[in-house]
Amino acid sequence: MADGNGSNRNNDNKPGRSKAWFGPMDRDGFVHRSWMRNQGHPTHVFDGRPVIGICNTWSELTPCNGHFRELAEHVKRGVYEMGGFPVEFPVMSLGETLMRPTTMLFRNLASMDVEESIRANPMDGVVLLTGCDKTTPSLLMGAASCGLPTIVCSGGPMLNGKFRDRDIGSGTSVWEFSEDVRGGKMTLADFMDAEAGMSRSAGHCMTMGTASTMASMVEALGMGLPSNAAIPAADSRRKVVARMVGQRIVDMVKENLTIDKILTKEAFENAIMVNGAIGGSTNAVVHLMAIAGRLGVELTLDDWDRLGRDMPCLVNLMPSGKYLMEDFFYAGGLPAVIKEIGDHLHKDALTVNGQSIWENSKDAVCYDRDVIFEKEKPFKDSGGIVVLRGNLAPTGAILKPSAATEELLQHRGRAIVFEDIDHFKEKVNDPDLDVNPDDVLVLKNCGPKGYPGFPEVGNLELPPKILAQGITDMVRISDARMSGTAYGTVVLHTSPEAAAGGTLALVRDGDMIELDVAGRGLHLEVSDEELERRRAEWSPPTGPIDRGYYKLYTDHVLQADTGADLDFLVGNSGAPVPRESH
Ligand code: FES
Repeated sequence: MADGNGSNRNNDNKPGRSKAWFGPMDRDGFVHRSWMRNQGHPTHVFDGRPVIGICNTWSELTPCNGHFRELAEHVKRGVYEMGGFPVEFPVMSLGETLMRPTTMLFRNLASMDVEESIRANPMDGVVLLTGCDKTTPSLLMGAASCGLPTIVCSGGPMLNGKFRDRDIGSGTSVWEFSEDVRGGKMTLADFMDAEAGMSRSAGHCMTMGTASTMASMVEALGMGLPSNAAIPAADSRRKVVARMVGQRIVDMVKENLTIDKILTKEAFENAIMVNGAIGGSTNAVVHLMAIAGRLGVELTLDDWDRLGRDMPCLVNLMPSGKYLMEDFFYAGGLPAVIKEIGDHLHKDALTVNGQSIWENSKDAVCYDRDVIFEKEKPFKDSGGIVVLRGNLAPTGAILKPSAATEELLQHRGRAIVFEDIDHFKEKVNDPDLDVNPDDVLVLKNCGPKGYPGFPEVGNLELPPKILAQGITDMVRISDARMSGTAYGTVVLHTSPEAAAGGTLALVRDGDMIELDVAGRGLHLEVSDEELERRRAEWSPPTGPIDRGYYKLYTDHVLQADTGADLDFLVGNSGAPVPRESH
């Protein structure tokens, strides 16, 4: 042989599913090895060593993950160092800023791509390269349904955005500047300067939005190495993490440390508590529940309320605070937060490095108490998620009190109804809109089936005539999600959604609604008889496309209260070796 290794060795005595492809010394083994050799692989990589799939969401249309080809090379170095054989493969990439109508429509589709790509190919373990919002849950969902040893390498946040002498944050500062331009407080030239300075390095949004929240969830779940969440993409230590991930996955395969051994109920409970401590995005609710659903872990909305209720927010990061992920890393990152709330956590929960979450964090140090607060003197009293129920949300809705206005948490008001997002856009700027600050803005048909795809439009802009009064918040209720960078007294994920015939569909202008956060209630003051009468007149909305994936999605998507997965994707199939292809 050209590489001097002699003939292939039969590796039947070695573990791993990849030997079903590369082991046999017959026609099929020839085919599997020979075509791989055209990439320059020598004989010894087929000797039964762990084959590590590197699941890559690189795409130039997903700028947050634009550096992932280089990151994958560092993972490969680690895999080679430990005697494994790395194979990189692409999957559908979900870029938050460009994809329409919403990346959430495609989260489940991407998870199918991941699951089937893993199962169909010769892999013994998997590294997931994740960054932009939906790339983290979609890859974890797909991998969870396969059950192989799996580790996540997050791509890291961008460096702090800069505009002149100040730090600016992804999303949060954009909304602020946009309002300033509209209000004549900022010139268009300055706005363009800010645009150039905000996203000045590789990486995902550097506020504590959904991407940073999900990277933190990865670490809290035990699926990433310590400090995985906060190291900026541009910091050379991100490459070190990638290399260590490559090394570790080879050992995980040898130890048969499969994903189900890490993603236990205790791990999810830890993640929910950490989400409260970081003041994380409401989007973590649907993503963690969808991942849990793939593993058969019973996770409910009530777990979020129960575990997040008393969890103080310790992290002073935008959108609710002042700093950004780069500062968070320098201050000690997630291990410093985990150490602060350690007494609440399941300390023995296993993580990918073979140590418990507590072993990984007990010696963590906080270097800046203005970024990571002490538990006894928190940044905010509560960072958790509240679950509301009542005749308007029989199976649940959520609200993030730390993002809301205290005085509005107990509120009764008249409904101002928008039938869908187009109706809202058409009506909200109408100077004749009959709306008062005490009213409740209600948006329908923006849930999973409704939009379709469950978009982040729940934090409705206030009508100009309300803003003109100096009012900055009103109670808003919808079946939509909200961007992790947004805030307000916003009731989200109302289930069942309007497009599925939920009570939300029956709300009419002028109905009275009561929000009772202390009592966890959300009530529409309309009699059951009247609601039945309205229901008889109701018909479901029709979507924009009635074929292909849109149809599959709307026919099968589950409601927000269970994670909005497709009904036939819940659960897992493992990764048995499929029958031969030829
Ligand atoms: Fe990709 Fe925010 S747009 S993480």
